[in-house]
Amino acid sequence: MRFLITAGPTREPIDPVRYLSNRSSGKMGYAIAEAAIKAGHEVVLISGPVDVDRPRDVTLICVSTSDEMFEAVHQHTSRCDILVMCAAVADYKPAKVSKSKIKKRAENISLELVPTQDILSSLPKNRNYLVVGFAAETEQLEANAGKKLREKNCDVVVANDVSRADAGMESDENEVDVFIRDGEIKKIPRRSKKIVARELVKIFENVCEKC
Ligand code: C5P
Repeated sequence: MRFLITAGPTREPIDPVRYLSNRSSGKMGYAIAEAAIKAGHEVVLISGPVDVDRPRDVTLICVSTSDEMFEAVHQHTSRCDILVMCAAVADYKPAKVSKSKIKKRAENISLELVPTQDILSSLPKNRNYLVVGFAAETEQLEANAGKKLREKNCDVVVANDVSRADAGMESDENEVDVFIRDGEIKKIPRRSKKIVARELVKIFENVCEKC
């Protein structure tokens, strides 16, 4: 199968030296890419800026902003069987990017933010690839994941509780619940991200085969 995987954060520029971003390390997306390669699949990995070694045998596409990730995903979906949107795409970006460095002043300043383009929601409803979304939540995991399945038209949502210090963002371990469109829920207990990734790839293969 051909996997298209996104990983890491995006950076939304404020001025030539500053940006808005988040704590995503990219470890989960890179582990899924590696697990998919080991299982004999083809992988295109679209990555935001991360400090993780490039997995062998993947085609790596490096992007920085949410707009660049949007374009890269749309360019590659025609050649994939499974899209795994693991990236922590910024939800907001500055309304204007200052061409020059914003000078420090004594008074408060405010930054106007506008929503970024939602990549998952922009995908066509009729498509011939499976779509996996991720949900990083701090509360009501199941309710929010169910909402994401419906509202973002995903086939699978992988949800993790990012309020826990020992699993999720930046950590080497993760514990996830996988919500499948037919109502099935699979729980993967706390393990290293590499083991969780292996389990996820098996689940994605099964759902994809059923489709
Ligand atoms: O709504 P929320 O940002 O929590 O959804 C997370 C999921 O949506 C992830 O799969 C992420 O990759 C995707 N996403 C997206 N486009 C955005 C923001 C998030 O596709 N602009």
